[in-house]
Amino acid sequence: MATINENYLKLKAGYLFPEIARRVNAFAQSNPNAPIIKLGIGDVSEPLPEACLTAMIKAVEEMGGRASFKGYGPEQGYTWLREKIAAQDFQARGCDIDASEIFISDGSKCDTGNILDIFGKNNTIAVTDPVYPVYVDTNVMAGHTGVSNDDGKYEGLVYIPINAENNFTAAIPTQKVDLIYLCFPNNPTGAVATKEHLQAWVDYAKANGSIIFFDAAYEAFITDPSLPHSIYEIPGAKDCAIEFRSFSKNAGFTGTRCALTVVPKSLTAKAADGSDVELWKLWNRRQSTKFNGVSYVVQRGAEAVYSEAGKAQIKALISFYLENAKIIREKLTGAGLQVYGGVNAPYVWVKTPNGLSSWDFFDKLLQTCNVVGTPGSGFGAAGEGYFRISAFNSRENLEEAMKRITEKFKV
Ligand SMILES: Cc1ncc(COP(=O)(O)O)c(C=O)c1O
Repeated sequence: MATINENYLKLKAGYLFPEIARRVNAFAQSNPNAPIIKLGIGDVSEPLPEACLTAMIKAVEEMGGRASFKGYGPEQGYTWLREKIAAQDFQARGCDIDASEIFISDGSKCDTGNILDIFGKNNTIAVTDPVYPVYVDTNVMAGHTGVSNDDGKYEGLVYIPINAENNFTAAIPTQKVDLIYLCFPNNPTGAVATKEHLQAWVDYAKANGSIIFFDAAYEAFITDPSLPHSIYEIPGAKDCAIEFRSFSKNAGFTGTRCALTVVPKSLTAKAADGSDVELWKLWNRRQSTKFNGVSYVVQRGAEAVYSEAGKAQIKALISFYLENAKIIREKLTGAGLQVYGGVNAPYVWVKTPNGLSSWDFFDKLLQTCNVVGTPGSGFGAAGEGYFRISAFNSRENLEEAMKRITEKFKV
């Protein structure tokens, strides 16, 4: 008789987005003419940059010619893409990352989950609260946790609260943890990490033999020149950090799918016999076995991100979303709400007024303004009393949503 992975039964049944959909559908059924605007999801709204599109069209044509056709590519990604990433994303910022340490993949979501394949079962794992839920759920699936309590917290995970009281920075744990997930600019709070903050984490990780999983999916939104884009800008990080990056939010590849993971060759973790094992070798083995690479066409599209035209187009895209975030910040502040984030990030994190719970605020905004956001409590217990608004939308929708909030919403 076949049996299942029992850990899946511990998962809280995908609560957040189905519950949002349920409430929005119920409202739409009773109010069929309500012009609902969705500012909840983290998907991009603008089309692909012209440079990526042109490169992909050319690549598709190559696939149709006998001489230029490509079959399986390297599992790690084509060298011409990895070299451009190494040079422009890392070496240009003073990070000593070689092309061979970059693994091209079809998404950071997959990579942040799959990375657990190469780690042991008995690591102590720390996540921030609130958090991108994938980090938590993939650890539950891998059997790294116990069951969850009423707050949705899983036994065995170390939760590091990030909130207004600690300025949305993840405090260094007082206990020893082995694996730490950090995401900056942060989803969902839009908070950023300074070099000093990351240096403290790197120092902690090196002192404790820990590995930091650094999710930089939103690094393109950093405009403050003093902020680090990569954890490898921090001395010592090559000995304690794996970095995840994605083309989803900078180049709008959410539907096209391309990302990368950096595993420095100097990074090691312990085997049961106490020896140090290079994580690069394990990840290379894992990817070569379980992954067959990203399509040639998509990698050519990603390569165009590094062309002069691509860079200019991406800059314009990011500016567009950041201007949206600025409008959200200004209008919500004008409506008497306390807002965070949204300066070097596409997310604005709103404190719910008058002690309203995240879900009560959700309902109020839906009913009075027909605007949908994401309740902060869906990202973790410490997100209770907060609300996420995304800048990924058309200017028209965004301005209309803000107009309604300014006119109709009373704190
Ligand atoms: C923090 C974070 N990491 C990773 C991802 C997923 O990226 P990808 O589209 O490359 O799978 C997201 C998507 O919303 C995200 O918010």
